[in-house]
Amino acid sequence: MRRTMVAGNWKMHGTCASVVELIDGLRTLTLPGNVDVAVFPPELFIDRVINGLQGASISVGAQNAAIESRQGALTGEISSSQLVDAGCKFVLVGHSERRLILGESDETLNRKFAAVQASGLTPVLCIGETLEQREAGQTLEVVERQLNVVIDEFGIEAFENAVIAYEPVWAIGTGLTASPQQAQDVHAAIRTQLAKKNSEVAQGVRLLYGGSVKAANAVELFSMPDIDGGLIGGASLNADEFGAIIRAAGN
Ligand code: 13P
Repeated sequence: MRRTMVAGNWKMHGTCASVVELIDGLRTLTLPGNVDVAVFPPELFIDRVINGLQGASISVGAQNAAIESRQGALTGEISSSQLVDAGCKFVLVGHSERRLILGESDETLNRKFAAVQASGLTPVLCIGETLEQREAGQTLEVVERQLNVVIDEFGIEAFENAVIAYEPVWAIGTGLTASPQQAQDVHAAIRTQLAKKNSEVAQGVRLLYGGSVKAANAVELFSMPDIDGGLIGGASLNADEFGAIIRAAGN
C-alpha cells in the first residue's frame, strides 16, 4: 500500500520572521496518522525548520542539492551529504523552475538525482509539460521522455527509493489546476510506463500532483486512484491552508 504524502515547496519565500511564524503554525496542526508530511524550505532556513519542527512528525527536505554527494570545492552549492547531516530526508530534483528558468539540463539533474540517492536521501523527481506542449498534444510524450532520462541511466530500480511529482507547468502558480481526470490520466500513464519495466516498482512509487493545489480542490484530486498526494507551492506558506490540504489527503 502506498502511503499518501503531502509536501510543501516553499520555493524562494520567507524571512526569518515569517519562517518562525510558519513553524509555529505547523506545530499546532493535528496531523492524520496516514499521511507523510514534508516541507521544503529555502536552504537558508533548513536548520531552523528542522529544529523548530522537532517532534512534529513533519520531515524536512531541500529544494536543491549539488551534483556531488560529498562536500568539497563547489562554491555556492550544498551537497546531499551535508543535507543528511542537517537532518533532511528528501530533495526536489528537476522542478520546472530549475529546468526552465535556470536551464538545468537532463545531465545535471541526473547527476543530482544520483548524488541524492547515494547519500541515502529520497529524490522527488518533478516532471511536467508546458502549456504549449499540452496544446500540441505532447503531454504524455514529454512526461515519458523526462522519466526515461532517469530510467535509461539508472534503471527502473532508481524508483524504488524515489517519489515522482507530476507538475504541469501551466498549472504552477497560475491558479489553473489540472482537473482531477486530467491529472489522473497522466499519473496512470506514468504508472503504466514504469510497470512495463517492473510492476512492483510501479505499484510502490508515490506519484504526487502539483500545480495550484488548495484545500478547495485537494479532496477531488487526492481521491483519484493514481494520485498519492500533492506537492504544494503557494498554499503551503499558510499553515492553516496546508493543514486543510493534509487533512484532505488523510480522508
Ligand atoms: P503552486 O502550488 O504555487 O502552483 O506550486 C506548485 C509547485 O510548483 C510545487 O513544487
